[in-house]
Amino acid sequence: MPVVGKPVARKDALDKLRGLARYIDDYNFSDILHIVTVRSPHAYGRLKSIDKSAAERMPGVVGVITADQVPGKNAVPLVLEDEPFLAQDYVRFHGEPVALVVAESYEEAQAAAALVTMDIEPLKPLLSIRDAIAESAPKIYGSDNCFSRYNVEKGNAEEAMKSAKHVFEQEYETPYQEHAYLETNGVIAVPGIEGTMTVYGTMQCPFYVHDAVAQALGRERNQVRIVQTTTGGGFGGKEDFPSVVAGQAAIVAQLFNRPAKLIYKREEDIIASSKRHPGLIKMKIGTDDNGKITAALIDYYVDGGAYSTLTPIVLWRGTVHALGPYECDHVHIRSWGVATNKVPCGAYRGFGSPQVIFAGESMIDEIAVALNIDPIEIRRINGYKVGSSTATSQIIDQSCGLMETIEKASAKADWKGKWQKPEQRAGILRKGVGVSTVYYGVGLGAGGKHLDRAGTSITIMKDGSVHCAIGNVEMGQGARTVLAQIAADALGAPYDLVNVVETDTNLVPDSGPTVASRTTFMSGNSLMLAAEQLRPRLLQAAAELLGAPGTDAVELIDGKAFLKADPNGKQFGFRELAAKLYAIRLMPSAFGWFIAPDSSYDKDTGQGNAYFVYSYCTNIAEVEVDMETGEFRVTRITSAHDMGKAINPQQVEGQIEGGTLQGMGYATMEEIRHDANGRMLNNAFATYILPTTEDTPELDPIIVEHAYDRGPYGAKGFGEVPLMGIAPAISNAIYNATGIRIRKLPIKPEKILGLDE
Ligand code: MOS
Repeated sequence: MPVVGKPVARKDALDKLRGLARYIDDYNFSDILHIVTVRSPHAYGRLKSIDKSAAERMPGVVGVITADQVPGKNAVPLVLEDEPFLAQDYVRFHGEPVALVVAESYEEAQAAAALVTMDIEPLKPLLSIRDAIAESAPKIYGSDNCFSRYNVEKGNAEEAMKSAKHVFEQEYETPYQEHAYLETNGVIAVPGIEGTMTVYGTMQCPFYVHDAVAQALGRERNQVRIVQTTTGGGFGGKEDFPSVVAGQAAIVAQLFNRPAKLIYKREEDIIASSKRHPGLIKMKIGTDDNGKITAALIDYYVDGGAYSTLTPIVLWRGTVHALGPYECDHVHIRSWGVATNKVPCGAYRGFGSPQVIFAGESMIDEIAVALNIDPIEIRRINGYKVGSSTATSQIIDQSCGLMETIEKASAKADWKGKWQKPEQRAGILRKGVGVSTVYYGVGLGAGGKHLDRAGTSITIMKDGSVHCAIGNVEMGQGARTVLAQIAADALGAPYDLVNVVETDTNLVPDSGPTVASRTTFMSGNSLMLAAEQLRPRLLQAAAELLGAPGTDAVELIDGKAFLKADPNGKQFGFRELAAKLYAIRLMPSAFGWFIAPDSSYDKDTGQGNAYFVYSYCTNIAEVEVDMETGEFRVTRITSAHDMGKAINPQQVEGQIEGGTLQGMGYATMEEIRHDANGRMLNNAFATYILPTTEDTPELDPIIVEHAYDRGPYGAKGFGEVPLMGIAPAISNAIYNATGIRIRKLPIKPEKILGLDE
């Protein structure tokens, strides 16, 4: 392939380097209104009344909007529809939007917002999973404070546990994680002709926003248009939340019939936008003498916060993946998405998996230590190979590179040379090495398969340039580049002439969300279906130009058409082909519509083909710990990934580097603190600590390609995987250096010294 598999330059690279990319705050419209959000000062309470009068008298203010003024339905349309656009009757978390102050300038709106007062009767909030699931807990959602629950049952784990040779039981806890995308949430809503509304903004899921704006306004879908603008990072954080801000801005724009801008300050973005769910995982694993897993009982709880948002789907993914990539005939996994009075949690790179991966990969390390088995070896013994059966009894029938990632990563990191038992290490500065293995179901799986579709269109312009419209978005991950590579090779067009435009709901039908590492696979396949329709037309134009007897006699590759019989003879370029295509009046456009390969799932037992294919990875972390202070450095991380096919190896390496650093933050620094009343204490980058380039260890990415026969050129999906197994690899390395096991993230010097739990 001329372009696929090559490290071609990113389509958006030069604009971003030169500062020319236009993010939502760079746009302006005449007559625009500015919105500032008034937020709940309580974590839980009855909202009795709101006094807007003082704010409304302030200079520049045109109005203060509350729940009673929502023109359509005051409910954000996600899975369960329990979240309002603006609080009504109750406030359920500290920072929940209650009113929108609308003014001629941002400063005027901000000054007036401080004068809106609320009469709230405070109620006692539930602030943790343990509090919310206690028998005696007051009920804030349903009859048991659970948004959703799942059960995965294979064989008879309870019985098998009784006869297991060794039984291991532990609890693990994982914290919040804030996405910390560089660009905060923001949109501009612009009213148009005949009751239409266009919303521009930073987002991952224009079709979710489309649903939300239509519902907030009570409009038809053909009256609402969503245009995604250059998006400064998402990582899952712009999956559900833009629906809230877009709905709110559209309500204001419709009520005043003027463009309205709502852009978050960092502090309010951290307080109010979604986070990674805190997790509580209880694992009980039975093995034989050789470390072979014979029974697994896993209970998994996530802290969903005040509204369900994506908790039901996040929890489903985590539940299915809870045992990790290990064979076992007797598995019972139960899970609960728990309601609390804190910020609603949603998607974050890995989507319910990093929590259970930390637990499972720590647990298997503990088992290896107890049974005196090399941690690499125990993964060879239990890990998936082609033919393995998953926890949902799915047979892995192809494209399983797990063992190759284990072998390549351990060889590259010199595991054999570096691994020794903690008892053998001495001195104040101690080195350690730790491993994790991960598998990840690509796409939405059986739990979300009704959304797993993707539309695209390709238009060959008269000058030979190619315009591709897609239903998934570029959010920094490189989608526009990788998809242009796929389209170029599928058409036979030169990469430089192919452009993938920003996503616009007017250009393609609802293609589901841009999540779950699905874009390369889904939109890539969809583009190939469109290209398949255009190829014969291009070949016909080529045949006419070359005077060939038929299209079978011509070849078109990398923008050059020639006779198969005479490859070094006369050639025509792509621009000449396009001109001919128009001159002979063949249709220069085609639509692609791809639906995911089938998956299945039994509601009661969780058994079935949970995802159509899985990606795999092995991480090896190396650390150096100061035994006197507890301080440590992550010195090197080697990561081998099987993504089927690296469409752009440079982008793959970039994803591995970025994801690894996010995983390091999750492992060693990031946590959110609340006070006793549920108020978030660290809502700024000065107090929410993130890794920076200064903390970056040596990174050693390795590409492993076990092609998937349904993938575009063999590609699966992989964007989320680099983050997912980093925390346990580091934690296992800390154990290997010190003999100290950390079961609650983040790992901090205080914990290594035993000064903090
Ligand atoms: Mo992603 S965490 O599936 O938006």
